Amino acid sequence: MKNKILVTGGAGYIGTHTCIALHEAGYEIVVYDNLSNSSREAINRVSTLIGQPIEFIEGDIRDAESLKQVFLSHHFFGVIHFAGLKAVGESVAKPLMYYNNNVSGTITLLEIMAKFNVKNLVFSSSATVYGDPESLPIDENSPRSCTNPYGQSKLTVEHILEDLAVSDDSWNLIPLRYFNPVGAHPSGQIGEDPNDIPNNLMPYISQVAVGKLAKLNIFGNDYQTIDGTGVRDFIHVTDLAQGHVAALNYLERQVAPVGFLPINLGTGKGTSVLELVTAFSKVSGQPIPYQFADRRAGDIASCYASADKAKNLLEWQAKLSITEMCQDSWRWQSMNPNGYTVT
Ligand code: NAD
Ligand code: UD1
Repeated sequence: MKNKILVTGGAGYIGTHTCIALHEAGYEIVVYDNLSNSSREAINRVSTLIGQPIEFIEGDIRDAESLKQVFLSHHFFGVIHFAGLKAVGESVAKPLMYYNNNVSGTITLLEIMAKFNVKNLVFSSSATVYGDPESLPIDENSPRSCTNPYGQSKLTVEHILEDLAVSDDSWNLIPLRYFNPVGAHPSGQIGEDPNDIPNNLMPYISQVAVGKLAKLNIFGNDYQTIDGTGVRDFIHVTDLAQGHVAALNYLERQVAPVGFLPINLGTGKGTSVLELVTAFSKVSGQPIPYQFADRRAGDIASCYASADKAKNLLEWQAKLSITEMCQDSWRWQSMNPNGYTVT
């Protein structure tokens, strides 16, 4: 058995997939989640997939006393910190809730980690910290800026981590900047389960394909891109999960602290909205009716990663194709039309 890892937000979309990857890589895991955007059913399914019960603690990262108890009863090598709120529109309406959860919650977690001398952190950052990129592909030294409270909360946490690394050179702090995570576990048992109508493209397409939503609105067909629609770097969630295992393996290999080390997790390839719609329709055999609509406020034309740093340092690269992303999203959606809700 390898090191023990605390996984905050481990009941969520990316967290559940990462728990499976960590277990397969031999890590012992403890999941800490307040279930504000997830369910016990997700944890049950992960337990079934790995063939043993997962150690799950229901708790909030803003609750220092509860976190302290967790650290008192476990000896962790490090923390993978997924816990956070992630809806851009909601963050504009409720900025205090987002800063409180994502920023204050992370500060509380870091304070407890410092107290228990656990100095290895892998943090869920986002390509959103690059704002409207000046050049493509986007590498880790690109300028950062954000236009909404969600993005600002991620950028603020990155600044806090940078300051922390300067103040004390024994920290190892890796913000992984995710591009656009999509897809689901190949078993069809776990996947993305958005509340209400999805904001993001892949879950929206899946729900049109399964007949829950009538039509996709494509936000803008006049961008300077291959076909006028937005271009993104879609990455399969199981590849993303492996990126976290690679980050931990990297930290285990180090003889000196790494400080603040941001790393992109993307494929390095851009795919347009229309290309994704076409691929999904082909894979599912379902028509995806769509109409062009106005551009969505805050959207950018194109965004894709330079994936070189992850390849060179972490010895990790994404393997799965757009077709596999669509196949797995479709399997999850068609097997679980209501997500984790059993009706
Ligand atoms: P998710 O909502 O499915 O998972 C987040 C989990 O954190 C949920 O299970 C939720 O219940 C839990 N949580 C939230 N606040 C908490 C708190 N205060 N205490 C304890 N648990 C709490 O989201 P996800 O898609 O799995 O994203 C995971 C992380 O990655 C988030 O921080 C998100 O901002 C970031 N991220 C996601 C994407 C994406 O497209 N999904 C892209 C970039 C970055
Ligand atoms: C969005 C967030 C980003 C967040 C990421 C993952 C915004 C402005 N950005 O990124 O901060 O990190 O999700 O949660 O919200 N599209 C449609 N129709 C739809 C939905 C999307 O055409 O119904 C288009 C968008 O205009 C965009 C592309 O699909 O061109 C991808 O959109 P989405 O999946 O929401 O991701 P991002 O906008 O890249």
